[in-house]
Amino acid sequence: MNCRALRVPRRRGEAARRELLDRGLLRSGIRIRADGEDLLLPVVEGVEIPTGWGPVEAAELDPAPAAPARDYADLLKDLAAEEPALPRSFDVIGDIVLVRIPDHCTIEPGRIGEALRAFVPGARLVGADRGVHGPGRIRLLDRLAGSGSWATVHSEHGLRLYVDLERAYFSPRLAHEHHRVASEVRTGEVVFDLCCGVGPFAAHIARDRRASRIVAVDSNPDAIELLERSLAALPAAAPVEARTQRVEEFLAGPEVADRAILNLPHEGIKYLGPLMGRVARGGTIHYYEITPRGRVADRGTELVSESGAGSVWRCVSARKVHAYSPQSDLIGYTLERGT
Ligand SMILES: C[S@@+](CC[C@H](N)C(=O)[O-])C[C@H]1O[C@@H](n2cnc3c(N)ncnc32)[C@H](O)[C@@H]1O
Repeated sequence: MNCRALRVPRRRGEAARRELLDRGLLRSGIRIRADGEDLLLPVVEGVEIPTGWGPVEAAELDPAPAAPARDYADLLKDLAAEEPALPRSFDVIGDIVLVRIPDHCTIEPGRIGEALRAFVPGARLVGADRGVHGPGRIRLLDRLAGSGSWATVHSEHGLRLYVDLERAYFSPRLAHEHHRVASEVRTGEVVFDLCCGVGPFAAHIARDRRASRIVAVDSNPDAIELLERSLAALPAAAPVEARTQRVEEFLAGPEVADRAILNLPHEGIKYLGPLMGRVARGGTIHYYEITPRGRVADRGTELVSESGAGSVWRCVSARKVHAYSPQSDLIGYTLERGT
């Protein structure tokens, strides 16, 4: 492209570049070019260059390569400045990217999708996440960019999980929690993973091979089928019995665990009391619930009293798993039964 350029000898090149930059005279976005023993430095159009710095002339210079984007919003620069509602965060599940677009965002969703697909390495498909619905907690998704199905393989702490967002619930935001709970399992324990979805807790625990047996239960047969595929791909693992069953039916049975996971955040409380009756002395429950900020400490104590379990159970910790709304978080409560 044709530009105004300052001609300086190469040996003065760096000093001249700095002086131009300091005074705001160096034109950005254009490459400096060597010409024999001289350099041609692009200068801002229409301003005086101090006499004595060298001749200013018209030159053919190349545009500088664009700096790599640090944020996907950099790819929407023309729009992002006026758009405070542009979503700042997104989730990556295998080769799928999910983003929640606020109702008042005026940028065309397809453009956000294309920007995310260009920004996230390996992204195949980008969807707008409109939240989970129904008993299976399946996501409502709008396709924004890319192609193919909503099925993918997601890697979490080196574990490969088969996921199909159209058929079963999965959230990558619990990755640390899946791993943390698995790391607490002791040798020989029997573990229940209730409302297991595609079974990330169960699969992590199975891979670690300390549990003697894991029973994973979900009412959605598609979730159980995906868990079975993930387990089949594990080279060596503790035995997992994956069951399509309602948790209330399962809890009416005779089996007893040393550790149980119950992750059904809006309704799990219905099953907490019956579950406490199915956990052995000295056992542990990892229970998940959406809790308003500021209520977490009290809620831990309430869980035990609401479940009607009496003084044999106590809440030993309550940890934030992730933010849920501006006023509430998903909290992981650890409940222990005395010996
Ligand atoms: C929030 S998801 C939990 C997913 C999983 N624990 C995880 O960490 O990814 C809740 C799951 O509970 C299952 N579910 C809902 N009601 C149920 C019930 N009454 N009995 C068994 N499963 C149920 C849904 O199918 C869904 O997979």
